[in-house]
Amino acid sequence: MRTEDAPLIRLEDYRPSDWLIDTVDLDVSLHPQKTRVRTLLALRPNPEGQPGAPLKLDGDELVLKSLAIDGKPLDASAYTVTPQALTIPSPPSHDFTLTIETELDPSANTKLMGLYRSSKVYCTQCEADGFRRITYFLDRPDVMSVYTVRLEAAKAEVPVLLSNGNLVAAAELPGGDRHFAVWHDPHPKPAYLFALVGGALDHVRQDYVTADGHKVELAVYVEPGKAERAGWALDSLVRCMRWDEQVFGRNYDLDVFNVVAVSDFNMGAMENKGLNIFNDKYVLADPQTATDGDYASIEAIIAHEYFHNWTGNRITCRDWFQLCLKEGLTVFRDQEFSADERSRPVKRIADVRTLRSTQFSEDAGPLAHPVRPRAYKEINNFYTPTVYEKGAEVIRMLKVLIGDDAFKRGMDLYFERCDGTAATIEEFLACFAETSGQNIDHFARWYEQAGTPTIVASGRYDAAAKRYTLDLAQSTPPTPGQAEKLPVVLPITLGLVGAKGDLPLKTASNAYAGDGLVVLDQSSLSVTFDDVAEAPIPSLMRGFSAPARLDLDLSDADLLRLFSADSDSFNRWQSLQSVATRALVTAGKPGADADVLTATAGKLGEALQAFLKSDALSDPAFAAQVLRLPAPADIAREIGGDVDPDAIFAAHRKLSGAIGKALLGELPGLRGALASSGAYRPDAASAGRRALRNELLGLAALAAPAEAADLCEEQFAAGDNLTDRLAALAAMTLIPGERREALIARFAEAYAGEPLVLDKWLMAQALIAEAGTLERVKTLMQHPAFSLGNPNRVRALIGGFAANLTQFNRADGAGYDFVADIVVALDKTNPQVASRLLGSFKSWRMLEPGRKRLAQEALSTVARLPNLSRDVADIAERALA
Ligand code: BES
Ligand code: ZN
Repeated sequence: MRTEDAPLIRLEDYRPSDWLIDTVDLDVSLHPQKTRVRTLLALRPNPEGQPGAPLKLDGDELVLKSLAIDGKPLDASAYTVTPQALTIPSPPSHDFTLTIETELDPSANTKLMGLYRSSKVYCTQCEADGFRRITYFLDRPDVMSVYTVRLEAAKAEVPVLLSNGNLVAAAELPGGDRHFAVWHDPHPKPAYLFALVGGALDHVRQDYVTADGHKVELAVYVEPGKAERAGWALDSLVRCMRWDEQVFGRNYDLDVFNVVAVSDFNMGAMENKGLNIFNDKYVLADPQTATDGDYASIEAIIAHEYFHNWTGNRITCRDWFQLCLKEGLTVFRDQEFSADERSRPVKRIADVRTLRSTQFSEDAGPLAHPVRPRAYKEINNFYTPTVYEKGAEVIRMLKVLIGDDAFKRGMDLYFERCDGTAATIEEFLACFAETSGQNIDHFARWYEQAGTPTIVASGRYDAAAKRYTLDLAQSTPPTPGQAEKLPVVLPITLGLVGAKGDLPLKTASNAYAGDGLVVLDQSSLSVTFDDVAEAPIPSLMRGFSAPARLDLDLSDADLLRLFSADSDSFNRWQSLQSVATRALVTAGKPGADADVLTATAGKLGEALQAFLKSDALSDPAFAAQVLRLPAPADIAREIGGDVDPDAIFAAHRKLSGAIGKALLGELPGLRGALASSGAYRPDAASAGRRALRNELLGLAALAAPAEAADLCEEQFAAGDNLTDRLAALAAMTLIPGERREALIARFAEAYAGEPLVLDKWLMAQALIAEAGTLERVKTLMQHPAFSLGNPNRVRALIGGFAANLTQFNRADGAGYDFVADIVVALDKTNPQVASRLLGSFKSWRMLEPGRKRLAQEALSTVARLPNLSRDVADIAERALA
């Protein structure tokens, strides 16, 4: 289907469903090629819908076997079936039941939507619109039903049968070969939260008692033989359940909570009621096969999906335009959980890095859209950094603006008032307007207006009057479909830093809300602070108080002073990033004078040396973040137009190498001090030491390659954990030559049979910033560890390559053609994975003319093809528009 044929779905066209479905009874008989689904729907006219309306049920790739109303088979003339719908033009005008029989081939389902098989396991993915691939249904989130699910299968093939809710019956069938299980979920839910799983699975389990005294059986199911790797996920689950009780007052509401890990999954994980299904990458962990980063993401994603039980499931979305109501809010909740479990400042820095690299770049390109989009053709293309990460930032700003107490009461009110409903952003915001007593209509513009605002700030000190004036202005660049932008509400958290730390803030300005918070809600304003005893250095947007760019012209000397003196950790980190960014932006333009880098490298080297000597060991995780420069892609985004990736990369290498040289003297001592003794532990403090130690190894690889290669080989040989061994490989990839190739080969041998570890091996090679990488990637596609059929493999190798700034953006366009060809091939089997990969082109418009033309040609070639999926056609069309 071409997108021109696909209807544009608009928020303003929303109207309630004409029919409601109170209960769903599913009877599923699992078979590899011929799975039978018998569905009994209890239908009722919606009092808020059109009386006498036809019944139009969604369907996709279904084989209809039979249809009956109130038990009586329906005459063929009484309904019509098209590829996307089953319509009964004249249904009964009262409540009735509809029985539908469909037949599915889960083994042939390569889209991984609906019911499919992963390895030998039967599983489902129904968000956003996969349920219609199982049976005909009103597949929209505001139709909520109580489900009872009977699953039946051959006992030997499918010993474990799971669905949502509580288990109410299970037994062998006569003859003993087959068995069944019945699951009942008492909470009405939309179809996208339905799930079933069947297969031979091992599990780990634990009992949990909620704060309100309810016993829950928790279990994590994994492929046979992998149960020892499920412990961290289970442990994370227990911790996040406790946290949600303590911080949000939310208790779990069923007798069981199951998590299942499968190896073929389009996304990271899915919050199906009582039966979360996960990409195994975000469940399986042991020290030999998971890195510190994996442990942290498992903890975060287990929490994220669990938190959806309240923000998403108990309160769901009225329609998909409200997606950020559950996703932005739940990302905010999982970020807060990780901050409490680990280091809050380090978590904030990591989240802001992600926001800038994914969301700011989306906002700056052709795929920019508001946190709540107004229209879509393919909803699966709107699970974006804007909906997720910017959606979470909007909640964070709201909390800062109304204060912790009103925010807490607002959340409580939301849970109480909207429980059991399919809600909207308006209903959510109304709760906070009520508890804070503030008008938040202007704030709500964050949901409607796309683009990243820039705050231009400058300060003036009047020594005679002891007065400091801060001039602030905001503007937002145009985005597709929104040429004119209005001011948004920007909370700016600030301090004025004097010789002995923060100066007291005294002002009569009504833009000042107290507690170091200035609210910029118009195009510009000035705030004057009185009784300022000395010329201060402004420290603005502390903790990154708004998803905006800050344009504040501080000297390198002032920034370096903030690095050592700011009381805000985020701005300490930001200050050095700003010094490096400014130099790289200057030096990364073609033909630029490289002298600026020498001067900056000197200043940064000196500051970092002093920092490493004095307090790096007191917080190694923070120190690792400080040492990591902005990535070349961040610099490209800052430059914003006429971008030459090679020039940026060369400048970045030069600066990193020079800083590395300045720090070489500290290296042996620090690496020694940071080395861990004893067995691997995944806690944040141990991970922080490894992070800093490995950051230093990366710098050494650029500054003293031969010596660093020795260290990489030693660390690989001695490493008792994947974090250190993978870091050795990653550092070695920076050092061309035989030793690198030998370590690459040793790594593959060491982890043969470990697909998730080999994904990291594939990605490390795909990211090598050298001309030979494209050929290497093509060769790796033939490696037995690679398969185009598995989303994780594709994301590691092809997604890795597409994230390689210099090689994806090769001057000859071969990188674009390669990725475009794979998108087209993949589109035939898995459109969702294909369209996400095509999203790699989202920044093509900022490139210099030669690359820009080549990228545009590759995109146009894709766009012109017939029979594209709606997913890929939509991205191609919008990227080119
Ligand atoms: N509800 C989503 C899963 C999903 C995404 C379903 C897209 C259908 C389409 C889930 O809660 C989610 O957000 N998962 C994230 C990970 C999370 C930690 C941000 C994912 O899968 O990437
Ligand atoms: Zn989510």
